[in-house]
Amino acid sequence: MSLVGLKRISKSPEETISIGEEIGQLLPQNQVVCFTGDLGAGKTTLIKGISSKVTGLPPFEINSPTFNYLHIYEGKETLYHFDCYRLKGPQDFLERGLDEYFGFLCLVEWPERIAPILPPNRVMIKIEYHGEKERVIRYEESPL
Ligand SMILES: Nc1ncnc2c1ncn2[C@@H]1O[C@H](COP(=O)(O)OP(=O)(O)OP(=O)(O)O)[C@@H](O)[C@H]1O
Ligand SMILES: [Mg+2]
Repeated sequence: MSLVGLKRISKSPEETISIGEEIGQLLPQNQVVCFTGDLGAGKTTLIKGISSKVTGLPPFEINSPTFNYLHIYEGKETLYHFDCYRLKGPQDFLERGLDEYFGFLCLVEWPERIAPILPPNRVMIKIEYHGEKERVIRYEESPL
């Protein structure tokens, strides 16, 4: 499987986690990966799979950092998980010094909030609702 051109249909949260585990094997250690999709689309669920594959930590230890903006998972590899939903904007992100992690493997929920300061080499994964349990997970060509 290659990340570019990725398109998968998930029919359950468990399937989304296992798609995340496959994606986790494809990510280089310095990649910034942005996740777009509505509230409850499954961004955090997908990130559970990616992060557990990369760090070796169990998926239940991977949770949304909504109130912290950043979770750092330290396992066999280190990974930075951002949730920008509650940030006021790019300035808020920069003032907290959060951009210092962009040279490492970063997974970003709600990247729209900080679009102007995302690094140019980021990649984007989009999750779309297709009914209550079905989601389409795909690589997104167009930048934010
Ligand atoms: N196929 C599926 N894949 C992922 N989640 C699913 C699926 N079907 C149902 N769900 C449910 O959708 C919800 C996804 O929640 P999750 O926290 O991953 O979304 P999110 O995109 O991170 O939301 P937010 O924008 O609030 O951070 C969960 O309640 C999960 O049980
Ligand atoms: Mg989330």
